[in-house]
Amino acid sequence: MTLERLLQSQGFGSRRECRGLVLAGRVCVAGVPCDDPGAEFDPEGLRFTVDGEEWGWHRQVYLALHKPAGYEVSNRPQHHPSVFSLLPVPLRERGVQAVGRLDEDTTGLLLLSDDGQFIHTYSSPKKKVPKVYEVTTRHPVETAQVAALLAGVQLHDEPAPIAAAACERVAEHHLRLTVTEGKYHLVKRMVAAAGNRVEALHRSRIGGLALPPGLAPGLWRWLDAADLARLAEPS
Ligand code: URA
Repeated sequence: MTLERLLQSQGFGSRRECRGLVLAGRVCVAGVPCDDPGAEFDPEGLRFTVDGEEWGWHRQVYLALHKPAGYEVSNRPQHHPSVFSLLPVPLRERGVQAVGRLDEDTTGLLLLSDDGQFIHTYSSPKKKVPKVYEVTTRHPVETAQVAALLAGVQLHDEPAPIAAAACERVAEHHLRLTVTEGKYHLVKRMVAAAGNRVEALHRSRIGGLALPPGLAPGLWRWLDAADLARLAEPS
C-alpha cells in the first residue's frame, strides 16, 4: 500500500492531505523519515509516526475507554462534552462509534469501534452479552432486594419483568449486578424497582473483558486479539 493511502486509511485526512503530510517531512515509517507519498509498504504490523506521535497500522479500530463521569456517549452532546473528544482526531475521523450507551454520570468500560458487525454483536440484546455493573446504593442493600433483582422486577413500559443475570451484595452500599440487555437507564430503573436507589454506577466488565487495570478515567487503549477473545467469553 502506498504511504499516502496507508495514512488515509488510518484517518489522517484525504489522500491529498496525507500526501501533503508526507511531502512536508512529517512522517517516519519504522523509524526512518519518508517523504515519498508513493512509497510502498506492507501495512500489516507497520509502525509509523506523524509529527513524532507513534501509531501502529490497524485494519479496524477496537478500543476500550474508561469513561469518566461528566461525558455524554453521543456525537451530538447536549450538556456535557462527548466521549469522542477523548480520542485522537484520526480515530474520530475513522468513524469510530460507541458500542451501546452509558449515562452521562456512569463511569467504566466503554467499547468503541468502526466495525459495524462488532458494534451490532456487542450491543444487540439478542446476543445476551453479560455486562457487570458496580452499583453504589443510597440505602443499605437488603437480601430481599437482591432476591427481587434475581427473580425479576417489573419496570414501567416493559411487558414482562426483567431479571438480573447475577446479583450479589458486595458491601452495605455496594451491589454487583449483571444484565444482558442495554435498555435506557436499565440498572437505575431495576434498582429503583427493587426498592433502592443508584447513587453511582460503574461498568466493570463486558463478557469476559474487565476494565483494563491501570486504565485511568478518560484514557483509552487498543484491544488486541486476546482482549477480543476474552470479550467473547461469558463473564
Ligand atoms: N444502566 C443505567 O441505568 N445506566 C447506564 O449508564 C448503564 C446501565
